[in-house]
Amino acid sequence: MLVELRSDTFTKPTLAMREAMMSAEVGDDMVGEDPTVNRLEAHVAEMFGKEAAVYACSATQANQMAIWANCERGDELLIETTGHIGIYESGAPAVISGVTTRCIPGECGRLDVEHLQGQIRRGDDHYATTTLLCLENSTNIAGGRTYSLTQLQRVCNWAHTNDLRTHLDGARIFNACAVRGYSVADIAKQFDTVSVCFSKGLGCPMGAILVGDQKTIARARRARKLMGGALRQAGILAASGLYALDNHVDRLAEDHQNAKRLAAGLAEIPNVNIDLDAVETNLVYFEVNPEWGTAADLEKRAAENGVKLFSVGGSQRLRACTHLDINEDHVDRAIQVFRECLESVR
Ligand SMILES: Cc1ncc(COP(=O)(O)O)c(C=O)c1O
Repeated sequence: MLVELRSDTFTKPTLAMREAMMSAEVGDDMVGEDPTVNRLEAHVAEMFGKEAAVYACSATQANQMAIWANCERGDELLIETTGHIGIYESGAPAVISGVTTRCIPGECGRLDVEHLQGQIRRGDDHYATTTLLCLENSTNIAGGRTYSLTQLQRVCNWAHTNDLRTHLDGARIFNACAVRGYSVADIAKQFDTVSVCFSKGLGCPMGAILVGDQKTIARARRARKLMGGALRQAGILAASGLYALDNHVDRLAEDHQNAKRLAAGLAEIPNVNIDLDAVETNLVYFEVNPEWGTAADLEKRAAENGVKLFSVGGSQRLRACTHLDINEDHVDRAIQVFRECLESVR
């Protein structure tokens, strides 16, 4: 049995999703004539309570379209130190939009007013002008953590009062909603733009979407074109998104239960350090004791035994991710393999 815990991006489209894709009605999306893309955009805009939406190739692209649309060249965005936009998007804000990125340390990947006060720079020609605040919910590198609605309201109110635009990297927004019980509209209401990824927990082969007001989304659509992301018969892909919204949202709670099961199993194994309270969604971060070896050692040993996970950020830290293609048996097998690896001498 192969157990793929590296990422929820490894999910493969189910047969039913493939069938929905195969029967999708299509047209040329570049000129706005793909009926399935149009249906997906209208559906998501309505779901999120926003005026408009634009379909994108990836969550990275949707984030970068948002930065382009919300900022001018010479601006600066603020993001928590562990934010995906700051670390894992190839410096794209600078390369594509001429926007610098300033990382602010928060708490478990989340920013609050106390972290941001005094950080806005404007009206002085020495500085890039701070115009955009980017948050992430749920977080990735910071451990799959979620914001409370109260905290999001507080931070976004502060940002808007201080004339900042706000963007949410909501690559895993549905995971956050599943845990916290708020709706995507509750969250989107706080932000100017929100990106959502279809190819993570929702199980699509690719695709993302950006929502916002008409004017901002029109700018984002232009950004998509200049990034080479304007598509043609994209309805084949958009159909997977429509299918996922109908069939793969409610089941995210199972991924979270499996993550907790995995975390509880890991906590019983010698040479593992894990904070069980930090496991909120589908990402399980833990550390191996340096006396046993490094994260890379465990990654290699586990892979040799059919369990794949990522070593990340520092020599002891690893990430395992539960998703659509992981069930309880996979979790139990992974725990067994981790135990065998970590109980033996390296
Ligand atoms: C929080 C977050 N945002 C954006 C992305 C980018 O997604 P993609 O690599 O599919 O463009 C990721 C990917 O892991 C992510 O975790």
